[in-house]
Amino acid sequence: MLQSSADNHGVVSTSAERTPAGAILLDGNRLRDETVVRLRGEIAAAGDPPVCLATVLVGSDAPSRIYVNMKHRKATEAGMESRGIELPDTATQAEVEAAVAALVADDGVHGILVQLPLPAHLDPEPVLALLPPEKDVDGLTDRSLGRLVRDLPGHVPCTPLGVMRLIERYGIATQGQRAVVIGRSTLVGLPQVLLLGRRGCDATVTLAHSRTDDLIDVCRSADIIVAAAGQAHMIGVDHVRPGATVIDVGVSRTEAGIVGDVDFDAVQAVAGAITPMPGGTGPMTIGCLLENTVAAARMLGAL
Ligand code: GUN
Repeated sequence: MLQSSADNHGVVSTSAERTPAGAILLDGNRLRDETVVRLRGEIAAAGDPPVCLATVLVGSDAPSRIYVNMKHRKATEAGMESRGIELPDTATQAEVEAAVAALVADDGVHGILVQLPLPAHLDPEPVLALLPPEKDVDGLTDRSLGRLVRDLPGHVPCTPLGVMRLIERYGIATQGQRAVVIGRSTLVGLPQVLLLGRRGCDATVTLAHSRTDDLIDVCRSADIIVAAAGQAHMIGVDHVRPGATVIDVGVSRTEAGIVGDVDFDAVQAVAGAITPMPGGTGPMTIGCLLENTVAAARMLGAL
């Protein structure tokens, strides 16, 4: 269901692109680009102080490298500095922790992102524990997640925040609506439940996962489905009540290439609004990383 445009940040539901069957396309590339332009304007309006995002990439995983490069590219477009620290596959726990500690101590760095997963011989927990909440622009540390649970100011994990930004931008009604989140990761599913259910958004949220019985029935009760289980094309037309909003956070590598959790071609025929894949939640993760970095600079008094 769509809310009226008046209370929704310039809703574009009438001008939005639509799928062949008429569902509103929740265009993450477009909203990411709008976010980049807005942030560039905010930095310029503050007199162009340096705002710096630092990333830490350990090892040679090709997709991680592509993601990190994209983050740097978009940070530059938004008028930020970006610093990329790269360590080899053979890096020790102490070396990774020392690299992160140096960025924490550097007043010229406002946001720090440690690309996950780390190589298998490394433990991410002591690495993440080094990040102070102000610089934790991924919102993944126990302190940031605790602040989210307690509704205190802090950074919110970028992917679920990006989902919320799409919902706001396209005027998807949430108050009193039923939302189902599929997947219980700390990166996406758990914070997504909190964001959808918290005051102001006010959805009635169900957390589904791999052991949920009757997933089709659970999903069919939903006005909003956020699929974040990482199972290729697990959400088909049977899962979706006509007119529901379907948001795909899944990324699976298959023989047919990278696919989401949602069978887009089938589901777009019944959904009221749907994210494309690619071009939906992925770009918004980067948009929200940049948003969090500007917020970090503000928290640290640099902006
Ligand atoms: N790997 C895949 N997604 C993410 C993300 O949002 N943040 C980090 N740090 N690593 C990731």
